[in-house]
Amino acid sequence: MKEKIIIFDTTLRDGDQSLQHSLKSNDKLKIAKLLEKMGVDIIEAGFPISSPEDFKSVNLISKNIKNSTICSLARCKNEDIDIAAKAMSNSFSRSFRIHLFIGTSNLHIKYKLRKNFEEILEMAINSVKRAKKYTNDIEFSCEDAGRTNIDNLCIIIENVIKHGVTTINIPDTVGYNIPTEFSKIIKLIINKVPNIDKSIISIHCHNDLGMAAGNSITAIQSGARQIEGTINGIGERSGNTALEEIIMAIKTRKDILNFYTDINHKKIYKTSKIISKICNVNISPNKSIIGSNAFSHSSGIHQDGILKNRKNYEIISPETIGAKNKEFNLTSRSGRAAIKYHMNKMGYSEDKYNLNKLYKNFIKLTDKYGRIFSYDLEALAFLKNFKKESNYFKLKHLKISIKNNVENNILIKLVCGENTKICSIKTKSNIIYAICKIFSKTSNIKIKLKKFKSIFEKDKNNLINKVSIIILYKKNKFYGEKITSNFIESYTKSIVNVLNSIWKYNKIIR
Ligand code: KIV
Ligand code: ZN
Repeated sequence: MKEKIIIFDTTLRDGDQSLQHSLKSNDKLKIAKLLEKMGVDIIEAGFPISSPEDFKSVNLISKNIKNSTICSLARCKNEDIDIAAKAMSNSFSRSFRIHLFIGTSNLHIKYKLRKNFEEILEMAINSVKRAKKYTNDIEFSCEDAGRTNIDNLCIIIENVIKHGVTTINIPDTVGYNIPTEFSKIIKLIINKVPNIDKSIISIHCHNDLGMAAGNSITAIQSGARQIEGTINGIGERSGNTALEEIIMAIKTRKDILNFYTDINHKKIYKTSKIISKICNVNISPNKSIIGSNAFSHSSGIHQDGILKNRKNYEIISPETIGAKNKEFNLTSRSGRAAIKYHMNKMGYSEDKYNLNKLYKNFIKLTDKYGRIFSYDLEALAFLKNFKKESNYFKLKHLKISIKNNVENNILIKLVCGENTKICSIKTKSNIIYAICKIFSKTSNIKIKLKKFKSIFEKDKNNLINKVSIIILYKKNKFYGEKITSNFIESYTKSIVNVLNSIWKYNKIIR
């Protein structure tokens, strides 16, 4: 029989701790609702003693969430415990968890807490007794357990369980452990602590050596039944265990891992995206499960293999996590199979073009410009002198003046082939959409902005801006991207690129 792994999410506590700006209560509530919908068992909503805003967040979340247990962090101090309980006193479900923690390694005891082991043990027991006045659901964390002397660890665990702790958490606080070692710690606890059966064993791993997911999986194989982590792996330093990795590892490797979670996998992608946006933390493209490259196949051999059978190179389908199937990236690494696939999708069978010739030109183009898109491929196949074709649209001048902080006046001079067109508009609407509109009007090409993304990056000592856009034209998506020192320039240049692609596209279609 498969056993359940309890999913404990600490995005709003350990994750929030690592953000440049901690989250406001309404954003925290939005995230808590997503986690609840995804099926998270326990949501650690915050550390109420840490700030009035955090108290407010925990209070708001506990009033509004009914299907996940709400939990608050508290040091082994009376005021922390009382405030944590107060923050959750109006819980929708009336039950809540208090999560106590204290450093148990010699390092933490001596240099951080400046106490001795007996004093720590006493503080731990007293705090459990205090928390018991408010709830029967008490979690106790031996902070830095991964570097704690095993005998001391077992003494603390036995004592806190004796006084009513229902979940005992073993954190690898500094991400120091490796899987075999961490598994041994869990097994030793199970063998040495006589009353361990009265409590669930939880683990909480950090990713400083990139071992967080590995340590978490090995811990459940050794007897732990709760995993703590965050969405997208955000958290102190290199972050916490990324829950999406654990959830999908349990699902994907059910042949080996005899466990299940109550998570609705289809919600993972959306939850991850929204959290990344709210927290303002970008997801690295190669991040497992939710990175933008997680389901994209680039090399010719891989693309060919995928076309023959997706299982050749995909262990999880994007649909499993609620993501859309990705188109192949067309780069200089792509092969004929990918070209044929894209041409086919656009309605061109192989007898309509010369595949070998197209492939040769495609490689030349992608070597020079990097990734290209279906419409470029189409132009390459059917436009004579594609390379020599100079751009039809060129931006000569753009001026934006803001009147009384509300009205924008935009003026552009756009070279359209042989002519230069001048156009101006006055608008009170969003400047990003207004710029797209004026380009549409001047070029006489009906476009609509579907997606706009702007990222500032540091290049040596200069701040540069990358704008990526998706434009809709006659139900087709056109992509534009540009990096300059100024975001309006990056944006307008990407629109001009898109207009030129559409112009070439129209030449073929007509
Ligand atoms: O990493 C850690 O030890 C913690 C505890 C508070 C559980 O975050
Ligand atoms: Zn932590």
